[in-house]
Amino acid sequence: MNTVLITGACINTGVAIVEKFASEGWNVVFTGRNREKVRISEKNYQEQFADVKIIGYPIVSLVDERTIDEKAVSELFSYLDSKGIFIDTLVLNAADQGLGIKALENPITDFMRVINTNMVWNYCMCEHAVRRMKENGGGNIIFINSNTAYRAIPDRIAYSASKSGQLGMMRAMALDLGKYNVRVNAVLPGMIKTDRWDNNPDFYNNVPSRYTPLGDVAVGEDVADAAWYFAAHAKNTTGAELVVDGGNMIQLYPIINK
Ligand SMILES: NC(=O)c1ccc[n+]([C@@H]2O[C@H](COP(=O)([O-])OP(=O)(O)OC[C@H]3O[C@@H](n4cnc5c(N)ncnc54)[C@H](OP(=O)(O)O)[C@@H]3O)[C@@H](O)[C@H]2O)c1
Repeated sequence: MNTVLITGACINTGVAIVEKFASEGWNVVFTGRNREKVRISEKNYQEQFADVKIIGYPIVSLVDERTIDEKAVSELFSYLDSKGIFIDTLVLNAADQGLGIKALENPITDFMRVINTNMVWNYCMCEHAVRRMKENGGGNIIFINSNTAYRAIPDRIAYSASKSGQLGMMRAMALDLGKYNVRVNAVLPGMIKTDRWDNNPDFYNNVPSRYTPLGDVAVGEDVADAAWYFAAHAKNTTGAELVVDGGNMIQLYPIINK
């Protein structure tokens, strides 16, 4: 049976990705930084999907401003080895959104934290996963990226830079890992409805990304379906980007119907 590892999957989009893979009969390992939240999510998922194995793994220390915690990643994969669990698909969903970082105002360490989380920590996760994939005949890596890798939004320099860098990393990894039958691809969502949406209705009811050709933003399930496509269907696809933004990125300017 296939097993997927999904990062940052106690809330929002990560939950939809867990639910998609589990409902398709895959075993799921997921991570989160809060032990209690991971424990509760694991229990809920196990009740919801009794036919598959679901393991929540708290990975409390990811990064500090100057480095990442590779030991914690190594311990995660050693733990999975000890249980005989092979991760054939890695979905890198967790991200530092880099909110509140103003150009030229914040300490440089804020910028470094976002790059470290979204690029270096993800690279480290790939390294440990791919070592096992190579030994087991191949695998899949899926980055949950963002259309902000291409199109900037205000006050998100670190986030946009990290997502653009992540795409470069994705393509270079796809090139190097094809010979091991490891496919590496990215989903590029636009705005996704999350709990932030409910908490800030005034902001989200007026964000420009509502004005897309398809007229609305994505829900977690749309992103999960795209990740599932790469994992289960796109057998001859690597280094690819699948944009899930209702057509937002193709516009020269948003069409606002009065
Ligand atoms: N929401 C959007 O509108 C949108 C748009 C485009 C792309 N995306 C991308 O889609 C993915 C999911 O988005 P989302 O909005 O559902 O994510 P989210 O709710 O902001 O965060 C997802 C998970 O990432 C983990 N996380 C948050 N900050 C972190 C940090 N500093 N270091 C490590 N882990 C951290 C959290 O897990 P724990 O707190 O449990 O550790 C959280 O549950 C992300 O990669 C995001 O960049 C989102």
